[in-house]
Amino acid sequence: MASVVLGVTGGIACYKSAALVSFLVKKDIEVDVIMTKNAAEFVSPLTFQTLSKNPVTTDTFGSIKYWEVEHIALAKKADVMVIAPATADIIGKIACGIADDMLTTTVMATKAKVLIAPAMNVNMYENPIVQENIQKLKDRGYLFIEPEEGLLACGDVGKGRMAEPEEIAEYILKILGEGGEDTSAPRTAAPRDLAGKRLLVTAGPTVEDIDPVRYISNRSSGKMGYSVAEAAAARGAEVTLVSGPVNLPEPAGVKVVHVRSTQDMLDACEEAFDDCDAVVKAAAPCDFRMAHKSEHKIKKKGDDGITLTLEENPDIIATLGKKKGNRVLVGFAAETRNLEQFAKEKIRKKNLDMIVANNVAQPGAGFDRDTNIVTFIKPDGSMEKFDQMQKTQVADLILDRVVEMINAKN
Ligand code: PMT
Repeated sequence: MASVVLGVTGGIACYKSAALVSFLVKKDIEVDVIMTKNAAEFVSPLTFQTLSKNPVTTDTFGSIKYWEVEHIALAKKADVMVIAPATADIIGKIACGIADDMLTTTVMATKAKVLIAPAMNVNMYENPIVQENIQKLKDRGYLFIEPEEGLLACGDVGKGRMAEPEEIAEYILKILGEGGEDTSAPRTAAPRDLAGKRLLVTAGPTVEDIDPVRYISNRSSGKMGYSVAEAAAARGAEVTLVSGPVNLPEPAGVKVVHVRSTQDMLDACEEAFDDCDAVVKAAAPCDFRMAHKSEHKIKKKGDDGITLTLEENPDIIATLGKKKGNRVLVGFAAETRNLEQFAKEKIRKKNLDMIVANNVAQPGAGFDRDTNIVTFIKPDGSMEKFDQMQKTQVADLILDRVVEMINAKN
């Protein structure tokens, strides 16, 4: 039976963690709960004890429930450790290596993956100190499930509301390898054929600001690129995922670099490019940006309307294509007509080793769906056409070809 150790810290979102425990227990997962003293002010330990059917630990010097030293026992027992809700305080403590209570000592002692679900006031969440602590932990492999935007308990509106329990549970199931979406699908272990390889993957849209309140973007959800990043990590690769703004949890074991504009995405890709063996460019970067971004909100001009002057953004993959050396470069082509012809032109212009062509006007394919319909095209004109399938399956097929191409180049 898989084991999850859930750390609950002091915030109003504690009540949602009760639903999380209930969800996990229904999935036959053993849950042990550690509550901070402040958390116990919001929800009684008895609630978690009843739902988890396990004793709840509230501090290091309480009654011993395990024969080993308790924080070590729980640290060893955990297949996944989750902190939900995670306050700015607990994030700061872990980032600084403080271990002064049951929860922080257990986090310090565990070798399990640690998933953190922040919940706090928007201004606290956006505080650069909190953001630096989050980044520090991400760089060390801690996983985060981003808070949502909305009305917060304090009355402010913004980002800071803890992710929904179902979403956190789904992420936990994925980390445990139990598949969040389709648990009836046969589970086979991913091959470790990308062990020792470094992959750069891009995902999502980019956003080009028009003025402080408006922007240009597109319909990319990031699902395609996130599927590739997640599958590559499962196959042993060290993955950097450069992601535009999306609403998806960060894939387990992947270093995620969040960007906004196409220029930001180019800068982040160039930074990761030197060290990588292959690039899979599933993002949909904006091709155009404002020639001159307005510093202030643009005012209406009556019947005359307004004209926005756009200039072309740099082409990221073409820039990388010019200095690709021995690396494998896989691009996508999002077309609504002449799919194969336009895709073949892009392979040549961008110096790619393979292009994944998808007709984004076709039902079951393209933007913001779980499925895609793709054709792989190589520079010699050879093609493999596939029927509609889950993006997770498309991701594995792309990686099969990436492995072949890396091996062929070496
Ligand atoms: O994110 P999802 O909702 O899951 O949707 C998936 C998807 C439709 C976004 C994905 O399957 C896809 O087709 N991605 C490429 C989108 C795109 O920008 O296509 P394009 O044909 O305009 O660009 C061709 C290639 O150049 C792409 O690899 C693109 O990432 C890259 N590009 C484009 C513009 C630019 N300025 N720099 C680039 O590197």
